[in-house]
Amino acid sequence: MMLLKVVDLHVEVAGVEVLKGVSLDVREGEIHALMGPNGSGKSTLAYTILGREGYLVKSGDILFEGRSVLGLSTDERARLGIFLALQEPPQIPGLRLSPFLNAIINKRLCRKELNKLPPPQVLAEVGKALQAVGLSRPHLSRELNMGFSGGEKKRSELLQAILLKPKLLILDEPDSGLDADGVKAVARIINSFKQEGKGVLLITHYARLLKHVPPDEVTVLYRGKVAVRGGPEIAERIDSEGYSFLNGSVGKDEH
Ligand SMILES: Nc1ncnc2c1ncn2[C@@H]1O[C@H](COP(=O)(O)OP(=O)(O)O)[C@@H](O)[C@H]1O
Ligand SMILES: [Mg+2]
Repeated sequence: MMLLKVVDLHVEVAGVEVLKGVSLDVREGEIHALMGPNGSGKSTLAYTILGREGYLVKSGDILFEGRSVLGLSTDERARLGIFLALQEPPQIPGLRLSPFLNAIINKRLCRKELNKLPPPQVLAEVGKALQAVGLSRPHLSRELNMGFSGGEKKRSELLQAILLKPKLLILDEPDSGLDADGVKAVARIINSFKQEGKGVLLITHYARLLKHVPPDEVTVLYRGKVAVRGGPEIAERIDSEGYSFLNGSVGKDEH
């Protein structure tokens, strides 16, 4: 089933048109890789799908499970089952990880059944997720992302994703700042999301993560437009040539 459908999206940020007619689809159980050089509009697309303030949709549409989300708040979009793991996760002083994760689990359960998990079960679920992302129990008593290393922040984003169990995951460069083992752990998690039938829009600048996470489809953004779309062979080409082959491609006349 189709989860996300972005249709000819034009988006303005701070008075500048950043996305100039972007279309893409993500289906259940599909990993759609979104690649492109710095500044091509990948994060802008992610923020716009979640309805971030200041990201003005001038035309086009964003459909989730067949319905437009443009009139919905970020909170409402999240409750439909859309999750965004941020490229630069914020530090939130005062918010300890443990009660935050408990709130995530209880929020998720409220969506379906009106019962709370008994504390030992919550602990077990959190423990399993901690292990999957490679964080440890002492992290639970710390404030969210406060003093976390770049890689730990990325892992804490995925921890939230695992516990919230959204239908669609948008992961904005989940591999940046991770060491080789970190990349493998992140790849395992993304592959398990796919196996569970979730849709994944995987934003990545480099092809190295895609060696461990074979994408079903690859879209390359360049200067706010879709430059190329195809299969994993595109990621391989970017890995060997970089983005230079995009010169002379779409959008060149506009800068
Ligand atoms: N708040 C903003 N104000 C002005 N320009 C912005 C803002 N946010 C993004 N941009 C511009 O939009 C373009 C796309 O940025 P971004 O979506 O972050 O690219 P990517 O994630 O592909 O690296 C860049 O040229 C960036 O400078
Ligand atoms: Mg970005």
